[in-house]
Amino acid sequence: MELKYYVAPLEGITNYIFRNTLYKHFPRGIDGFCSPFIVPKLKRAMTVREFKDVLKENNKVNALVPQVLTRSPEGFLFLADKLRNMGYEEINLNLGCPSGTVTASGKGAAFLKDPIELENFFKEIYSSMPDLTLSVKTRIGYEKLEELEDLIEVYNLFPFKNITIHPRLGKEMYRGNVHMDEFLYSLQKLNADIIYNGDIKNSENRDKVLSAVKEAGLENKLTGIMVGRGLVSDPLLLERLNAKSKEGRNGENGEIVKYSEDKRVYNFLTEYTELTHEEMGEGPALQKLKEIWGHMSLRYTSFEREGKKILKSKTVSEAFEYLAQILNHD
Ligand SMILES: Cc1cc2nc3c(=O)[nH]c(=O)nc-3n(C[C@H](O)[C@H](O)[C@H](O)COP(=O)(O)O)c2cc1C
Repeated sequence: MELKYYVAPLEGITNYIFRNTLYKHFPRGIDGFCSPFIVPKLKRAMTVREFKDVLKENNKVNALVPQVLTRSPEGFLFLADKLRNMGYEEINLNLGCPSGTVTASGKGAAFLKDPIELENFFKEIYSSMPDLTLSVKTRIGYEKLEELEDLIEVYNLFPFKNITIHPRLGKEMYRGNVHMDEFLYSLQKLNADIIYNGDIKNSENRDKVLSAVKEAGLENKLTGIMVGRGLVSDPLLLERLNAKSKEGRNGENGEIVKYSEDKRVYNFLTEYTELTHEEMGEGPALQKLKEIWGHMSLRYTSFEREGKKILKSKTVSEAFEYLAQILNHD
């Protein structure tokens, strides 16, 4: 079975403008996207911003799965109903977010502390929406690795389309190494198709995961790889992982445009920033550009001086002066 590659949800970064621009400039190797989480609201399910983010006509990508973050079955069902009416078949449940504001209310990774309530949550959802296509994005526990066993038992009771596993505990946030042994154990024990997620920044990282899976004889259980931060720091990552042509993207008329990789990243950032400027204004456009550059700069360490100036820029055009020095060459 051919592995699929997905773009991870990164709240504050991978909004529809980012997803559309990424897909337009680097379509090769991307099989689909998961949206950043939406927390159901009591009266209207979503904020206007969230609604716009998942509105079908705003999303010019090949596949998008909206993600819900809640521990309330009623909240989930209310929002899932809206999302289904907007044209989405599959919905993803966030059981991985480790941020304090989310876990304080028992949501995201903190829901994993309560396998019995989790089981009841899924029971209620499937009994109200038996035809729902549900996928899950999860950590391997919250406090300790021993929690995994109970979680596997719960997950195996339900017909999830797939389970994306980020093999860290919730309390580890993004620190330390991923727990590969626990990932392989989950891969072996879980009935659902599994997508691996975590710390893939280059093809060596990916190959290491694949060879561990192969050595364990579990290749047929792994159906996909999901990448987040690695893709923001290197928008060509999925193209690279799929070892397709590095020549450049197809031009408007199908011809191959032979831009350098840096120039392609520059063009991507230019369009992304223009669209964000149009939609949200200069301040947010600059702030988001800086956040993306924060990830990208890890790959351009020889331009430390210019890189820092980007982060200190007061306007978008000032930031682009420095970005051009680093990236705008053929
Ligand atoms: C800034 C930021 C925002 C994130 N937002 C979400 C989110 O909305 N939903 C989610 O499931 N995971 C979210 N995550 C987790 C990522 O989707 C992913 O699981 C994590 O970054 C590990 O993968 P990576 O090493 O490829 O980035 C977020 C992570 C970061 C760093």
